[in-house]
Amino acid sequence: MGIPRKSHFMKDEELRKLPSIIPPKWNSHFWGNEKYTQFATRVPSNWVGYTLLHSILGVEGKILLDFGCYRGDSTKTLLDAGAKKAVGVDKFKKNVYAARKRHEGDRRLQFLHVGPRAQIPQKRYYEGASMTFVRPAISTHEELGLSFEKIFNALRRGAPLGIIGLHPNSLKPGRKFVYYGHSLPPGEKYKDGAKFENVLRLPDEMELRFSDCCWTEKTIVSTLENAGFAAESVFGIKWSELPGRLQATFKGAKNAIAKHEGIKWLDEWKAPLYQIFHAVKR
Ligand SMILES: C[S@@+](CC[C@H](N)C(=O)[O-])C[C@H]1O[C@@H](n2cnc3c(N)ncnc32)[C@H](O)[C@@H]1O
Repeated sequence: MGIPRKSHFMKDEELRKLPSIIPPKWNSHFWGNEKYTQFATRVPSNWVGYTLLHSILGVEGKILLDFGCYRGDSTKTLLDAGAKKAVGVDKFKKNVYAARKRHEGDRRLQFLHVGPRAQIPQKRYYEGASMTFVRPAISTHEELGLSFEKIFNALRRGAPLGIIGLHPNSLKPGRKFVYYGHSLPPGEKYKDGAKFENVLRLPDEMELRFSDCCWTEKTIVSTLENAGFAAESVFGIKWSELPGRLQATFKGAKNAIAKHEGIKWLDEWKAPLYQIFHAVKR
């Protein structure tokens, strides 16, 4: 595939250093936590995000790629939404082994280890790809570009890529969410590569803390385009901007969750907690 290579893509010797650039918290502290695995795909706002992403991808009957699958639960949401087959890839072997074990017996699910320098084995195979909450876990522009490039190679022509991550506005001082707290360090602005702190509050009152990385809309779009994608649309999941039919569905579901958990929503209704990018392989 003729992918335009940009000089800012990592050179081999830089790529070899990747594992040491990755903040250890991701693996050992946060992403190693089984409770998060069970929780992530059910957090109401996440659920809204996954559902919108599925509608962008048009999952029905498709063979889909889940880039950055962790323990495979986001991969499973693709099947639950009607995909024919879903393949999860992750750069950490331990996540891939855990995903295989966790979803043993479901033959429509497959999990592959794809290291930072490796390509996804199947070329021009997938009919769509999702990248859910992976973008903020990428800490260098080179890794971001390389990730888009691999996804591009694995997709069929015309296939969509849906990306979901935190919306920059959700980091505005004063925003409060029931399950999440996140803030930029004092005086820091939302800019490429800036780190911010997260607190994920689980329903059992356990708290998980980890840091994430900012990527501006402009950078995501230009990096997608450099990899060969056409960036179709970017939108925030803002309650007031959801189409009426979806508003009713999500409000009903969110209210049911609120009742079940005995909580009152904070800024979830107003603030665009997440941002979605929709790109298509040219
Ligand atoms: C925050 S978790 C998200 C997991 C899952 N997609 C979800 O929606 O719950 C991010 C995952 O992306 C993986 N990841 C980060 N950078 C990656 C890369 N360059 N290639 C493959 N996986 C990557 C991490 O190992 C981690 O498992």
